Amino acid sequence: MAPAAAQLRLGFCWIFALFLGRIISVQVTVPSEPVFGKVGSTVLLPCTYNTNFVKGCNLAWSFIPTGSSSEKEILYYDGELYPVDTRRNRIRLLHSAPTQGTASIEIQSIQPSDTGSYICRVVNPNDWSGNQQGTVNLEVLTPPSTPVCKMSGSTNVGSDVILTCNSVEGNPLPIYDWKKAKGVVPQANWIMDQRTGTLVLQNVSFAFTGSYQCTSSNEQGTASCSISVRITAASTAAVVAGAVVGTLLVLLLLGALAAYFVWFRKRHFKGSSSSGNELREDAVAPPFKNPKSKAKDDSESQLMNHSLGRQETASNNSAMMTHVV
Ligand SMILES: *[C@@H]1O[C@H](CO)[C@@H](O)[C@H](O)[C@H]1NC(C)=O
Repeated sequence: MAPAAAQLRLGFCWIFALFLGRIISVQVTVPSEPVFGKVGSTVLLPCTYNTNFVKGCNLAWSFIPTGSSSEKEILYYDGELYPVDTRRNRIRLLHSAPTQGTASIEIQSIQPSDTGSYICRVVNPNDWSGNQQGTVNLEVLTPPSTPVCKMSGSTNVGSDVILTCNSVEGNPLPIYDWKKAKGVVPQANWIMDQRTGTLVLQNVSFAFTGSYQCTSSNEQGTASCSISVRITAASTAAVVAGAVVGTLLVLLLLGALAAYFVWFRKRHFKGSSSSGNELREDAVAPPFKNPKSKAKDDSESQLMNHSLGRQETASNNSAMMTHVV
């Protein structure tokens, strides 16, 4: 008996809800076109509905920033107003009690970060049919912020230089334009993307050296930055130049060594007797002997004798080598 009664009641409720829905279905209406406002101005986000805003009904506005998917409630009304968001002191209801079919809100001093989708929801617990929500898009018109100019790639002759330009802010999206301050470069080597702000200078020559200015602009204003590019000799040329200089240095060193060797031999042959052993002669009679400093010379030759004596315990050849070097 009980289940049948419950079923009957449920069925009745369902028919009643359907009937009620036909008569007072919630219908939320918002403009299909986005709302535009300049940064700093006050905008109106319209939203109307046609249900009886009775006890239990509520209105909520929420916000989804452009490029995000997270929805955040910014205002709630159920007979009392609950501003939920940090921007609450900038938001007010157009009708302080939004019970007469108008749920529009006003946002003061709009910021670029206010750009996004605003969802107006009217919930009547007695009325679940109809369109209970509408989305208004807000575009905060902002002039481009000062762009940042950057350079990447190699600045060597024959390589590609990439210049980028970007304004963090700007709505509508800024268009970028690059210009060389002085002189012209071949148009074929100049590849510019005005949407992204990228300029590729292909196969650069010294003529590409100079200052480049980027202008970022939209209907709200313009801003610019510049960057200087200095083309340098190709790295392969630098490597070749380095190798040439290195080789010359080595040759010079070898020449100096050879000259020293020749001079050394000459000096020793001049002072020696007819004896065949160079080393022995050298040890006994240093060639630049100065009679005035005999004592010093004696101690020097003693030192030399000592060291040579040690060397001569090895083979004669190796002793000679050591001496020469
Ligand atoms: C690069 O430019 C030079 C002249 O500046 C030209 O001789 C050469 O063919 C160019 N190379 C390419 C790959 O376009």
